Amino acid sequence: MRRIDKRLPGDCTRRDALQLIGGMAFAGFLGNDSWSQTKGIATTQGDKRLIVHSASPHNAEPALGDLMGNWITPLESFFVRSHGRETPELDAAAFRVSVEGLVDRPLELSMSDLAALPQAEAVATLTCAGNRRREHNAVRAVSGVQWREGAIGNARWSGVPLAEMLKRAGVKSSAKHVWFESVDQIEDHGQTFPFGGSIPLEKALADHNGTPGALLALRMNGKALSSDHGFPVRTVVPGYIGARSVKWLRRIVVSDQPSPNHFLADVYKLVTEDTKLAQVEAGPIYTFPINAAICEPVAAASLKTGRQRVRGYALPPGNGTTISRIEVSSDSGASWQTAEILSPVAPYCWVLWEAAVSVDAVTRDLIVRATDSTGLIQPEVVPWNMKGYLYNAWHRVPVSVAS
Ligand code: MTE
Repeated sequence: MRRIDKRLPGDCTRRDALQLIGGMAFAGFLGNDSWSQTKGIATTQGDKRLIVHSASPHNAEPALGDLMGNWITPLESFFVRSHGRETPELDAAAFRVSVEGLVDRPLELSMSDLAALPQAEAVATLTCAGNRRREHNAVRAVSGVQWREGAIGNARWSGVPLAEMLKRAGVKSSAKHVWFESVDQIEDHGQTFPFGGSIPLEKALADHNGTPGALLALRMNGKALSSDHGFPVRTVVPGYIGARSVKWLRRIVVSDQPSPNHFLADVYKLVTEDTKLAQVEAGPIYTFPINAAICEPVAAASLKTGRQRVRGYALPPGNGTTISRIEVSSDSGASWQTAEILSPVAPYCWVLWEAAVSVDAVTRDLIVRATDSTGLIQPEVVPWNMKGYLYNAWHRVPVSVAS
C-alpha cells in the first residue's frame, strides 16, 4: 500500500489516522547514515528507538527514515527533549494540577477529576524550536543540543481542553496570559527552578475548527503519556514550538503578564547578537515557521543515475494554514518537481510526501521547499541566530551519483 487516505482537515482531530504509508523498505534502522552509527540508541526508556544526544537530560531523536512510515509518529520514534537531569516518575494517584491567579474559583484537580471533565482530541505536530539547529553551524557555531531534522513528531493527543478548565475556574477580565509550571527541576547558573512558560489567553481559549488552542493531554496516540512525554499530564499547544507544551504539568496560573519563567523570559527567543540588550529586546517565540525536510535518501547517500525516490515531511506554519505544495530539486534549484502528498493535510500537522526525481552526474544535492495555503514559500536561507532556533531554510541533502 502506498498511499494513506486523504481526509478533510477537520477529520484529523477526530479519527485515528494511524496508517501505513507503505514501503517500509528502509535500509534497516540506521540506514546508511554514518552519524547514526556513531551514536548510542536508547532502548531502556519506553522501548524508544532513538539516537541519543544526551542521556541525562534525556534528549534523543529518531533516524529520519523512521519518521516516514506513519503520519502519526509511533511512540518509539517520537523525539524526546527534556531540560532537567531527572525524568520525573510521578504517582498519578497522588498528583494534582492547580489553577490559580486571576480566577474566581481556584481549582485543584486530581487525574480522575481531569478524566471526568469533557475530553477532546487533537492531532498536532510537536517540534522543538531547535530542530535542524546544527545547520546554523555552517554560518557560525551554535551551542545546545545539535538536533538534526528529527526533533519533530505528529501525535494524536487527547485530554481536557484548557478552555474547559479556565471556564470552570472563571477567568477575571484583567487576565492576558496563562502560565504553565512543571515539577522537573532545572539547574542553571547555580539556581534550581521548574520548567515553565506561558501562552496568550486568546490562544488558551481558542477553538480552531474543533482543535483546541491548548489541551491538557492525558493520552498520546491512545495511551497514557509515558514518563518521557510528561506523565500524567502535559499541555499540548497546536502550532506553537514544543517548549510551550509543558510536560509533568503541576500549576496553571492565570495572569496579566507573561510568565517570568526562564524558558519564556530568557531562553526561547530569536537573538541575533550576543548582547544583553539584544537578549532583553527579543520577545518569546510562540508559533513555529513553515518547514520541510528530506528524510530519504540521507546525507552522503550514493545514488545511481536515473529516477530516485525522495521522501520527507513538510510542516505548515503554526498560524493555522496548511501545506499546499512541496517541490524537490535535483539540479541545485534550477528546476523543481512537485512532490505527491501522501498523508492527510491539516493545520498544525505535518504532511508526508514523496517524489521520484531524476538524478545524474550534475546532481550534487537534493533540495526540498514547501509552500502553504496562503502562498508562503519556505525561505532559501534564514538569518543566523545565537541559540540556533527555527531553522527552516530549504533543506539540502548532499549526495553522490554514480552512473
Ligand atoms: N516540559 C518540561 N516540564 N520540561 C522540559 O524540559 N521541554 C520542552 C517541552 N516541555 C520540556 C517540557 C521542549 S523544549 C520540547 S521541544 C517538548 O517538551 C518536547 O516534548 P517531548 O519530549 O514529549 O517530545
